[in-house]
Amino acid sequence: MGNYSTSLLTVLLTLTGIGIFAGDTQHTIAVIGTGYVGLVTGTCFAHLGNNVICVDIDQQKINDLKKGIVGMYEPELKELIYAYYEKNLWFTTDTAEAISKADLVFIAVDTPMSDDGTAYMGYLQSALTSISKSIRKKVVICIKSTVPIGTTAYAQQLLKDSGVDSDLFDVAMNPEFLREGTAVYDFLHPDRIVIGSYSQHAADTLQKVYQPLIDKEIPCIVVDPETAETIKYASNSLLAIKISFINEIANLCEKTGACICSVAHAMGLDKRIGPYCLKHGPGFGGSCFPKDCSALLHIANTYGVTLNTLGGCMKTNEQQRLVPIKKLLSHIPDLRNKTIAVLGLAFKAGTNDIRNSCALTAIEQLRIHGAHVKAYDPVAIEPMKKIFPDIEYGTSIASTLADCDAALILTEWQEFKEVEMLAIERIMKHPLFIDACNILDEKTCCSLRAVVIDKIGKKSC
Ligand code: UDX
Repeated sequence: MGNYSTSLLTVLLTLTGIGIFAGDTQHTIAVIGTGYVGLVTGTCFAHLGNNVICVDIDQQKINDLKKGIVGMYEPELKELIYAYYEKNLWFTTDTAEAISKADLVFIAVDTPMSDDGTAYMGYLQSALTSISKSIRKKVVICIKSTVPIGTTAYAQQLLKDSGVDSDLFDVAMNPEFLREGTAVYDFLHPDRIVIGSYSQHAADTLQKVYQPLIDKEIPCIVVDPETAETIKYASNSLLAIKISFINEIANLCEKTGACICSVAHAMGLDKRIGPYCLKHGPGFGGSCFPKDCSALLHIANTYGVTLNTLGGCMKTNEQQRLVPIKKLLSHIPDLRNKTIAVLGLAFKAGTNDIRNSCALTAIEQLRIHGAHVKAYDPVAIEPMKKIFPDIEYGTSIASTLADCDAALILTEWQEFKEVEMLAIERIMKHPLFIDACNILDEKTCCSLRAVVIDKIGKKSC
């Protein structure tokens, strides 16, 4: 079983009493795509008591999964896979075999952002074509990927046009609300389950597989697919708008001297606002917010609807990603031949994913300004090496900061909070920190004579 090494008991204990098991409504579920969404979805449905076959066209990925190699840094996922693999969880590249056995198919393939900002649908179309060739008995085909409004209807028509008997399939849409780094927890503790369906059979089938969660009083909303598709985009877009708004307020607080942390805290106590996505920083990244905001903006434009708020959110985010560099240049106008540390490469703490990470913008800008870059991240160095193979990478915070003229903190990793400033002061050429994540303890830092901290949203000390 390769690298899987945790007992089933440990798995169930680590899930803090989640211990949910389906009743006698066990289903055979095929999940097409073993990325963040597909692998978490398939594994968690196995945990809920179903037989699950996860399918991917990437033979290497499937071979790795069979050997216990899970490419993503997702807490609890590996332990859960170990617990259920070859019991009621399997991996294969054979779509036809999986579809022939399943009564429910989730499509969880990537729908990345195209160059023009729209969602790329090629992988979804390929999955639907493969499925259409493999349907032998009644099956519900459910899109889990985030897709443009109208895609579920398009999928239904594509299957019909492929000659599949309409009596043999129903289509549905079931958006995910999983955050990277907490995806297993988020799947088993959703705020709501959203099912978009044209048929009662599809809605009933999906409610049955989610029954263990519904039994725990988790709201299940059954709507038409267009509504479900819109719920996903609108939810992510509003979360992103909250982040851009608090970043704008942070930039204002920096001028007025108001305390952005207190402003955000007091705002969040208003139940109508809520505390989440009110943490200011260098802007949002990741594989979802940028892509989903862009896709929704383009979808609205095709209908002649202008989403001014969302457009502003995206413009603010692009500008916010440049704030750490602008701050650095205000301290060191000429970066040529300067050595700058970049602490934090992942798009957020808790993941090794660097997609749309603020560090990508920062490293690119530092190189444009002629700086020598030393980069460090607890888990995301290898992915970043594929993008920037020729910058220097440290093996620790101290080794990265040694002899640096300044340091940018771009990801809120806990170990950056605990950096020992007394020691740091001695090993940096100039102990200047651009703390874009507002995680350094100012009292400690400012008590040190030479250390300069410049934080987004606060006056530098
Ligand atoms: C997001 C959505 O939260 C999730 O519901 C959806 O299914 C997928 O996209 P994810 O991208 O994994 O999840 O991470 P999230 O924790 O939402 O953070 C997204 C970005 O926003 C990160 O760059 C993060 O640093 C930033 N962020 C988040 C802030 O800047 N401030 C905040 O308060 C929260």
